Amino acid sequence: MPMPLFSISNLTKTFSTGDETTIPALSGINLAIHSGECLLISGANGSGKTVLMLILAGLMDADGGEVLFRGQPLNTVLPELRRHLGLVFQDADAQIVGETVAEDIAFGPKNLGFAKAAVAERVQEALTALGLADKRDRPPRNLSGGEKRRLAVAGILAMGCETIIMDEPFANLDWPGVVQVLEIVRQLKQEGKTVILLTHELEKVLAFADRLVILDRGIVREDGKPAEVLDRLKDEYGVRDPRKSYGTVEDCTWL
Ligand SMILES: Nc1ncnc2c1ncn2[C@@H]1O[C@H](COP(=O)(O)OP(=O)(O)O)[C@@H](O)[C@H]1O
Ligand SMILES: [Mg+2]
Repeated sequence: MPMPLFSISNLTKTFSTGDETTIPALSGINLAIHSGECLLISGANGSGKTVLMLILAGLMDADGGEVLFRGQPLNTVLPELRRHLGLVFQDADAQIVGETVAEDIAFGPKNLGFAKAAVAERVQEALTALGLADKRDRPPRNLSGGEKRRLAVAGILAMGCETIIMDEPFANLDWPGVVQVLEIVRQLKQEGKTVILLTHELEKVLAFADRLVILDRGIVREDGKPAEVLDRLKDEYGVRDPRKSYGTVEDCTWL
């Protein structure tokens, strides 16, 4: 087994509510994430998915435990991590930084210090890859929900990120929007990117997952091949087995 991309061991994070009580958001998470896999992390609302993502991205400190990125403690390799890992936040609007689609995509590579011509080339490539070329001069806020997710991914690809985490990628999307996101996932997989999806909407995307992790109140309850994890699913995890309506794991997609 090659060295994992991320090795997470005994990771804990607790929030205090101000009135003596505390919320254990993550309680001793152990997880190895491998390069090139499509990992689906599922769990009910509040199970800790977003907090885990923020810690992996170096945007939030854990209270205990360790995260290694390619064998190095995360906080010692933050610049490398920033170039490697792109996040698509649940709230697509919060991620918009440019006045136009092209400007928005350019933001990341500019920040990484690429020369003007290289930025322009990367923006053009990303526009084409995500099917946004005809919208390059449009204000991002007027895009549809699916297009906004495509825009966020375009910005990440323009930076050259090899790993992409999408937090609730189907939230507030209509059917065409969901299809657009699934096409992105398919494309990213084909390109050999590492794709991490945080969602409880298994029926839309499970067919794409190499591996399924179930988080429940900050604890990894299951981790393995999707069908095997679903076979072991317990009601208390708050995740529904999509095979009940869709058939097999391979049928669980809206594409
Ligand atoms: N900034 C915060 N302050 C206090 N509690 C938080 C904060 N962020 C998350 N939490 C709590 O941590 C737990 C996990 O949250 P989160 O990771 O957002 O869950 P999920 O993304 O799975 O819905 C929840 O109980 C949530 O209320
Ligand atoms: Mg969340």
